[in-house]
Amino acid sequence: MRIGERHYRSIWLSEDGWAVEIIDQTRLPHDFATIRLESPDDVERAIREMEVRGAPLIGATGAYGLSLAARGDPSTEALERAYKALLATRPTAVNLRWALDHMMAVLIQLPPEQRAEAAYRHAADICDEDVAINESIGRHGLSLLENLWQAKGASGRLDVLTHCNAGWLATVDWGTALAPIYKAHDAGIPVHVWADETRPRNQGASLTAWELGQHGVPHTVIVDNAGGHLMQRGLVDICITGTDRTSRHGDVCNKIGTYLKALAAWDNNVPFYVALPGPTIDWTIADGIAEIPIEERDPAEVTRVTGRTREGHVVSVDITPAGATAANPSFDVTPARLITGFITERGVCEASEAGLARLFPDHG
Ligand code: MRU
Repeated sequence: MRIGERHYRSIWLSEDGWAVEIIDQTRLPHDFATIRLESPDDVERAIREMEVRGAPLIGATGAYGLSLAARGDPSTEALERAYKALLATRPTAVNLRWALDHMMAVLIQLPPEQRAEAAYRHAADICDEDVAINESIGRHGLSLLENLWQAKGASGRLDVLTHCNAGWLATVDWGTALAPIYKAHDAGIPVHVWADETRPRNQGASLTAWELGQHGVPHTVIVDNAGGHLMQRGLVDICITGTDRTSRHGDVCNKIGTYLKALAAWDNNVPFYVALPGPTIDWTIADGIAEIPIEERDPAEVTRVTGRTREGHVVSVDITPAGATAANPSFDVTPARLITGFITERGVCEASEAGLARLFPDHG
């Protein structure tokens, strides 16, 4: 990822070789600050408070949480305690469980004195694998965007609508939904992004707009309810979103509001694609609507908004009457039938059990 002239990943090891550093995403876009994580408790807080967020990055951070745990106390009891605490931080994104399970499977087999070193090595592999997966999603998505661009007569601009933040900040690098957009922009396709603001935490307005801006990709922030209108006017060529968990039947759980975008896309014949890394598929679940746990977050995220004043102070203000009741389901499920296709690291497939099984025969 590009920040100014410097290349960053969203998580890295500090110079001392054991502490973990992250970008504090709660302070973007107004302030760029990094945080040093020194213990599994630090990691737990960082995930829960959404200093790191986005399904793949939550998984990678959880893996380093177990590394820090193993460094402090490599006993099986201590690792199991850390595993449980980390797993409970955010219930919807399956990448966390995937990464923690992979780590535990490796560590438990080893004698305690070898666990810390192996944990750091394995967490680094999980990070590198995420980067490779997303780069590959970017390449497959680029072909899709190139074809769409040619079908449009290669004139004007290519308008992509996205929801929440499924860019480099949500992963270790590249992003999922935004990877094809970066590739298309770099290949000279005049891509423009409609970025849903994504209430209540505004990851689109704050994070997607910020990272697209750092890369020089033209974009426009819209309120969440504008997407349907833009589609009716022919102003959206394709929707691409990320996913926090996809069932083996192809139902996609993603940030609240994704489902409504898919409905609007369906009604307006706009292709609706989901960028889907293999580790985000939950092969144990068939029916996404019935089976995927939906995170309920603090209602205060709905009743208060945070922003910067003209004087440069970052403040939070109430937007509801005192005592108003609010609910904050954080994710929704888009049924497979509304999804045109998945862009995975192994290619593009239809959103169905057969489509996923064709690309991932080894996991089915
Ligand atoms: O609550 P968040 O900010 O962690 O939610 C993030 C999303 O919904 C993303 O779309 C999803 O994690 C895919 S990230 C590549």
